[in-house]
Amino acid sequence: MTQADIRTLSTQFAAEKKGLGAFNVVLLEFGEAIVAAAEEAGLPVILQLSQNAVKYHRGRLAPIGKGVIALAEEARVPVVAHLDHAEDIDLCKAAVDLGFTSVMYDGSHLSDEENRRTTAEITAWCHARGVAVEAELGEVGGKNGVHDPSARTNPQDAARFVNDTGVDLLAVAVGSSHTMTTRTAELDCQLISEIRDAISVPLVLHGSSGVSDEGMRAAIEAGMTKINVSTHLNVLYTAQVRAVLDADEKIVDPRKYGKPGNAAVEAEVARLLRWYAGQ
Ligand code: G3H
Ligand code: ZN
Repeated sequence: MTQADIRTLSTQFAAEKKGLGAFNVVLLEFGEAIVAAAEEAGLPVILQLSQNAVKYHRGRLAPIGKGVIALAEEARVPVVAHLDHAEDIDLCKAAVDLGFTSVMYDGSHLSDEENRRTTAEITAWCHARGVAVEAELGEVGGKNGVHDPSARTNPQDAARFVNDTGVDLLAVAVGSSHTMTTRTAELDCQLISEIRDAISVPLVLHGSSGVSDEGMRAAIEAGMTKINVSTHLNVLYTAQVRAVLDADEKIVDPRKYGKPGNAAVEAEVARLLRWYAGQ
């Protein structure tokens, strides 16, 4: 089937107070496992390819990007191919030209004025091609930038940002932080509700690996919709691979440890998708 529209999916999930799982494709096998999990759960999913992942794949977007798009298009459930954390405008445009239907332009490292200007420009460019845009506010506090656990998005700033840029989804700072390997982050659910009431587009949580199941349920109830998870899957995949290799030092075929690693990713994505959707 054709790719799903992230605007339709996220608006519908937000209205129903459900979380929409968005998982990062670090290796193409992750994408295969994520789609298999979504089909098993009978739920939509967002397949994310980040600028960093493209860099890992020798800076070549097309080979891994076409794989992600093909997985999205061949899935038996609604799937979106989404470019994640793209700071490079040319990469955003190349991804759209390749067939990605959703882009996160990340101008959070820029000054507030510059972030608004560049986000508005790329949003207009993407909208002219029917592509959705997720963005992130600039420096909102916290010494280490927007993803410092102490950083917070101001609801009125968020409303102005959405108004000024026309973005379709907004990533906000509410207590999470990227690449946590423990699920101990504390989210500010009161703030999530206030931002949700102040803006008209669905909210995105980055750094969701650090949030417990119960914490995520509360955040979704409070108004969080798109839930971005990457590190948590890496932790599970690597633990499985390590266990298999530790148990048999004669293994040389990557399929022998890749298969159980992929199975661990698939099982957890299916579980999380159901949990986020309240099933
Ligand atoms: O954009 C991707 C997510 O924010 C993933 O963050 O690796 O901390 O789960 P995470
Ligand atoms: Zn992120």
